[in-house]
Amino acid sequence: MNRIYHCRSKKMKKDINIFLVSDFHYTNEKDLKNYHFIIEELEKNKPNFLFLGGDILDSATVSDEDLLLREIEKWAKETVVIIGIGNHDITIVKNKKTLYYKNESFWNKLKKIKNVVILDDDCYEEKEFRIIGITVPYSSYYKNKNITEFLEEHIKKYDNQKMNLLLIHSANFLYSEKSDILLQNIDFVLSGHNHNGMVPKIFEKIMKHRGIISPSKKLLPSYVRGKFKRYNTTFIISGGMTKLSKRSGLHFLNRFWNHELTKITIHSSDALYKEVL
Ligand SMILES: [Fe+2]
Repeated sequence: MNRIYHCRSKKMKKDINIFLVSDFHYTNEKDLKNYHFIIEELEKNKPNFLFLGGDILDSATVSDEDLLLREIEKWAKETVVIIGIGNHDITIVKNKKTLYYKNESFWNKLKKIKNVVILDDDCYEEKEFRIIGITVPYSSYYKNKNITEFLEEHIKKYDNQKMNLLLIHSANFLYSEKSDILLQNIDFVLSGHNHNGMVPKIFEKIMKHRGIISPSKKLLPSYVRGKFKRYNTTFIISGGMTKLSKRSGLHFLNRFWNHELTKITIHSSDALYKEVL
């Protein structure tokens, strides 16, 4: 299922088209059949970028990782693939405990693919815009460590002379007064993580941006999907490819939800700007 958003930035002289796909939760070869539509969409639409919004892997170690790398390589032949890192990408579950682990071999192989850019607390810069990719630390996801200092270090340094896009797996850390101040130079936040709040499509209209349950098992979470604004920053939250990860033990139910591909156009001029909800 495609979700389409049109936005605008006065800092841009040319339109820019971005595909955002988040939360693949890849476990093995069987998952690849769900990804075929991505290459078809890339060939048809030729976006400037494909953003992968984190949780590419369901667990830091997976089977058949080379097959996933081959799939990403196909996408990278069509466009620049910008990769953000999610909590599942840097953790494994052992004895029912979620532990930090980074599969360096996977990320090193991924980094070597032409046209793939991994933004692990890093920035991709062009003349009119920056794409800032930050990896929320394990301690903030799992140990409730306050994130303000981390955000200060990685966001504050960017001025507002260019359009700033922030790719962060979970925007849930950004809804506070302190973050609002830190985000003052950020034009767009692109994110995933919330798996559409597990809301089936038919209930989306009445639920608006709200979900039924969040990945951290919070009931009726807010801001789980869609486009909304806080002060000067536009947030776009992808409902994600996968709704139930293998860790949940309920992943066989995924067939009841759609895979989301989010198509974003940032227009350079008012005349071409059209709001599509
Ligand atoms: Fe996820």
